[in-house]
Amino acid sequence: MNVPDRYRLGEAFVPKGRYLDAEFQQRELNTVFAKTWLMACREEELPGVGSYVEYRIGAHSILIVRESVGSIRSYFNACRHRGTRLAAGRGRVGAIICPFHGWRWNLDGTIRLVLDREEFVPRSDEDLGLVQVRTELWGGFVFINMDAEAEPLLDYLDPIPTVFAPFQFEHMRYRWMKSVILPCNWKTVLDGFLEAYHVPGTHPQLHRSDTSNHKIATPKELDRRTWAPTAVHGKFARYASVGRKPIDPAAAEVRRVKDPAKRGTSGATDERQSVAGAVEYIARDMRALENERSVRAAAQLRTAEVPAGVHAGQHYLELLRQLSIPDGLDWPVITPQEWAAAGTAWHVFPNTILLPNQGNAIGYRARPNGNDPDSCLFEMFSLEQIPVADYDKKTDFAPQHFDDYRDADLGEVLTQDLDNSEAVTIGMHSPSFDGHRLSTQQEMTIYNHHRAADDYLWSD
Ligand code: FES
Ligand SMILES: [Fe+2]
Repeated sequence: MNVPDRYRLGEAFVPKGRYLDAEFQQRELNTVFAKTWLMACREEELPGVGSYVEYRIGAHSILIVRESVGSIRSYFNACRHRGTRLAAGRGRVGAIICPFHGWRWNLDGTIRLVLDREEFVPRSDEDLGLVQVRTELWGGFVFINMDAEAEPLLDYLDPIPTVFAPFQFEHMRYRWMKSVILPCNWKTVLDGFLEAYHVPGTHPQLHRSDTSNHKIATPKELDRRTWAPTAVHGKFARYASVGRKPIDPAAAEVRRVKDPAKRGTSGATDERQSVAGAVEYIARDMRALENERSVRAAAQLRTAEVPAGVHAGQHYLELLRQLSIPDGLDWPVITPQEWAAAGTAWHVFPNTILLPNQGNAIGYRARPNGNDPDSCLFEMFSLEQIPVADYDKKTDFAPQHFDDYRDADLGEVLTQDLDNSEAVTIGMHSPSFDGHRLSTQQEMTIYNHHRAADDYLWSD
């Protein structure tokens, strides 16, 4: 692999040119984004035959279309006549019609109408058909791949489909999705969600039983280190936090935790209050990962008799299960081993992050915004499991876009995360700064992204 010096990774060191150089981003668009499976939308965004979603990537666009009840196809969003983008945003059509001179295509991409076709040199219908982009499904997500030779999606994603199976992403639907434009490289914002090392610094309230206390963490609080090492799995990477996830600590990766009994919010001696407080805060602030049912289970936990030897987090899960089944949800018991394997979050290379929870999830996706390496489109989405009786029901779903994240009503935690994006970018441009110096324990998810990207970036 012939990596130019300027972009070569050091030991736990990432040179800043990989974030700031237009030339580097162009290479990412031509290699990483052009050859990997990209999460383009969810199936519920295409409720009827003819529903479409436009997926912008770099300077161009791809159209994802429900071609029939059981089939979704994607096309490069470019007219075969003079290149015009065929459709924008999202909507529903009976045929794909170019707005410029009115050429038409069937939803399966075959040409239907060329005005005054006899005036053109003879061209086959095949030559005039829309050019397809590989499209495959997993977990209710629609993935696309611009490389016709790419391996099948499920092979690419391995082991994620196995690890995520207990969480039933295919039975979740959007609660909300918000997109924003951020003044940073697409990887800068993603990196902020790829490690939990920033939690005491950026979200000090998550370390406290009083979640309204946003004061900067004290050195003692900073040193509590309730975050487990990140783990890499080929292209993918995962991190775990012991504080948030109600798992059996014995099964979790707790090697680095100084005192696992002290996890949760500081100063709380009653595990029940600590777990309930964390659930309630996340449900209220993020409106993701936990929901109204979680809040009811948390309220029960506060006064519950927790059986001896059972962690409050496990007991919370049992209370939540007892509330979920009468609501018609398929709610198997997820084993401690399955919780531990899932961890807190997975980086789905190259540009998506998924945080699984039983019944709920949150995800993030970042993309270059045009060709400017200092601007990106960042999307956050909350998913919620639906009752078995509603699996086939069509839902109306409207994503929201905000040019400025401060207008997006994101809550404290996500706002704190996005507040870092511009500051990191300005600092990285300083001539004094040469690159990221990463923790070899808690930030290897970030390093792994670059390591995996190198396989695509410099393969020729
Ligand atoms: S550019 Fe599309 S019909 Fe002419
Ligand atoms: Fe964060």
